[in-house]
Amino acid sequence: MLDNRPTLPPEIARRRTFAIISHPDAGKTTLTEKFLLFGGAIQMAGQVRAKGEARRTRSDFMKMEQERGISVSASAMSFDFRHYRFNLVDTPGHSDFSEDTYRTLTAVDAAIMVIDGAKGVESQTQKLFEVCRLRDLPILTFCNKMDRESRDTFDIIDEIQQNLAIDVTPASWPIGMGRDFIGAYDLLHDRLEIMDRADRNKVAESIKIDGLDDPRLADHVPADLLAKFREEIEMARELLPAFNRQSVLEGHMTPIWFGSAINSFGVKELMDGMGEYGPEPQIQKSADRGISPEEPAVTGFVFKVQANMDPKHRDRVAFVRLASGHFERGMKLLHVRSKKIMAVANPVMFLAADRELAEEAWAGDIIGIPNHGQLRIGDALTEGEALRFTGIPSFAPELLNGVRALDPMKAKHLEKALMQFAEEGAAKVFKPMIGSGFIVGVVGQLQFEVLASRIEQEYSLPVRFEPSQFTSARWVSGPKAEVERFVNVNKGHVATDNDGDMVFLTRLKWDIDRVERDYPELKLTATKEMM
Ligand code: G4P
Repeated sequence: MLDNRPTLPPEIARRRTFAIISHPDAGKTTLTEKFLLFGGAIQMAGQVRAKGEARRTRSDFMKMEQERGISVSASAMSFDFRHYRFNLVDTPGHSDFSEDTYRTLTAVDAAIMVIDGAKGVESQTQKLFEVCRLRDLPILTFCNKMDRESRDTFDIIDEIQQNLAIDVTPASWPIGMGRDFIGAYDLLHDRLEIMDRADRNKVAESIKIDGLDDPRLADHVPADLLAKFREEIEMARELLPAFNRQSVLEGHMTPIWFGSAINSFGVKELMDGMGEYGPEPQIQKSADRGISPEEPAVTGFVFKVQANMDPKHRDRVAFVRLASGHFERGMKLLHVRSKKIMAVANPVMFLAADRELAEEAWAGDIIGIPNHGQLRIGDALTEGEALRFTGIPSFAPELLNGVRALDPMKAKHLEKALMQFAEEGAAKVFKPMIGSGFIVGVVGQLQFEVLASRIEQEYSLPVRFEPSQFTSARWVSGPKAEVERFVNVNKGHVATDNDGDMVFLTRLKWDIDRVERDYPELKLTATKEMM
């Protein structure tokens, strides 16, 4: 059930775990920064900005990737706002990392979609939205940059409804636009919010109003704007659906706030919205049953692994979404895949720029567990139950390259480096049955560049990626005899992935059709569950 559940322990019920999705430049970094500011996690605007700017160009992006500290501390940030605990999980900004983004979205219960008021729904917004929809994630929308010339409010709402096929209900309504933008009317609380242009970090003045007929409106809103505003609201009430929390929680409706992140305007209202209307930690799917957050036993799954945060120590941090229970530092948990017990002695939580030891955590929280490679994406940790979480997919790569160490004596090092990146989820690594090299698969070209640069940086190993004859890969399964018959004839196309599972390396779509025709009992799949 998605409804507000009074049975949840208060510590769990107050948690909101979400991601922000947007097209580059819409204002995700600025909004994140204001969240952290209002959540008390940073003292000053400007501390996160560096990251947004660094992402602008490719070389800067890679530099940022190398400064592991920055991207790691931003992977999952926790802070309190009013009586809520927010866990904001960062999604990689670049479209080449869509698989990573997909997995990140398996760890959250909701998303905030930021759009630019002048640009509306852009390509990356649309893609990320589709991913959220696959998981029926509730989405709150923030229409940013209202201090600039932007599109007509009805136009924007209509575009979201048409392009994303979701009901849109205004949570606030902008008054004026561009230079004349003075603020917004909070339709959910009947308040007038006036923007302060003089101080970007100052929160808007909030004026309680007794509905739209209140004469006090005229004290704050110039007559021409007020007349237009009244007219628009009348139309909006007629044409647009009214707010319905259940519908929001089911992912059928998105409330939209209008604001300006850089001017801190509309941000607190959005945060209030996430608190009041956003989902509590949700039931997580496992192979056998749904895991409810209030179950007393601690369970969680790894959705992201970040390696070599400190190049000197080769440490890794596995990011775990707690699915149930109350975790305490030092707990011994079963690592289901290896059937070994792990004492979780130094779990970390990320409060903006600092890592902190997590003394305790609750269902819905994200903790980082430093480890030496035992923890992989998709792994489950429990208090003894042999759970297998589902829904964390691995996608067939869309680009395949051969890889070579420039120093041929370093082949073993290369294998180690590649395996590490494969476990981190940064690439697929395939070992062909014939020959000695490796084939590396990614979703976007930029990933090869980042990989080459990281292998050189972290392993002092210059490498070169080279085009291969293959263009995609499919995982192979089926009855043993059929698999053997297939392998015997197609050795040159068969490889194993980094988990040892068999894949068929393909050149053309035609290869897949041919195998499907010749081996009807064989199953070729473009995704596999990471477990
Ligand atoms: P992103 O993470 O989604 O890529 O966006 P980011 O926050 O980096 O913002 C992209 C640009 O939009 C930045 O401008 C930022 O200052 C600006 N911006 C964000 N929110 C608002 C807003 O409410 N109103 C206006 N007018 N602009 C906004 P930039 O020129 O690229 O950087 P900067 O020089 O301003 O720092």
